[in-house]
Amino acid sequence: MAFLDKHKVIETHATLLLILSFLVVTIGGLVQIVPLFYLENTIEEVEGVRPYTPLELAGRNIYIREGCYVCHSQMIRPMRDEVERYGHYSLAAESMYDHPFQWGSKRTGPDLARVGERYSDDWHVDHLTDPQSVVPESVMPKYGFLLDREIDGRRIGDEMQVHRMLGTPYTDDMLQNAVADFRAQADPDADYDGMVERYKTAMLPTDPERQSDRDPLIAVRNFDGQPQLTEMDALIAYLQVLGTMVDFSTFQPDPNR
Ligand code: HEC
Repeated sequence: MAFLDKHKVIETHATLLLILSFLVVTIGGLVQIVPLFYLENTIEEVEGVRPYTPLELAGRNIYIREGCYVCHSQMIRPMRDEVERYGHYSLAAESMYDHPFQWGSKRTGPDLARVGERYSDDWHVDHLTDPQSVVPESVMPKYGFLLDREIDGRRIGDEMQVHRMLGTPYTDDMLQNAVADFRAQADPDADYDGMVERYKTAMLPTDPERQSDRDPLIAVRNFDGQPQLTEMDALIAYLQVLGTMVDFSTFQPDPNR
């Protein structure tokens, strides 16, 4: 076995092994990394994706604060069992405005990437208040206190500003109207047309020549059923938008990617 004899030379000389290993790793790394420098964007933009509204963003913060990600991922992998259970596999574009993203593989509870509009708001209130009343064997903690915590969106504008620094295309108009938009989304009696218009315009594609003709799924509802605006409203507004931005009945993956 002449070939193995030659390999023995490498195996018995630590320095040579080290140098050759280094070479192999370098070449492998370059092959993976260099093409990325020649791509303008590694995320295929998908019609319908838009930045979160102020209320949804506040809900996302509560989701993170309460550690929902400890038990729930938001990433449907392209494997048959997951696609059949949760729906179309997650696209990179769907979390392009997520800072930080909520992917993951720790699933004590189900993946939530497409939970939006799957249940009614009332169902969420009941489930979050007392998960075991809906699913008796559930190990999910109770979050009923969110119903008592009022919020006014005072700081949401600053927060959107930070997200803009991170690349989310919030416009000056959105920042100026942050608090008003925050309240309008949970109040169907308010004048929410401006808010819907602002976030509809931010929907991809961003090409000014081509406005998206998708109906924007911006839910304006009293999410928790109480007159006052609470953390429960914000969290449900966020849960209800998850996975609903892209219309998968018409979505076609770009064949060049
Ligand atoms: C200790 C783990 C744990 C934590 C923390 C947790 N959950 Fe859950 N969650 C579960 C489990 C288990 C289920 C499945 C049983 C059920 O429906 O209650 C579930 C189910 C759900 C469902 C229904 C999903 C579906 O497709 O049926 C939603 C929505 C949900 N959780 C939201 C949340 C939110 C929001 C938070 C944070 C405020 C949270 N969960 C925190 C364990 C957890």
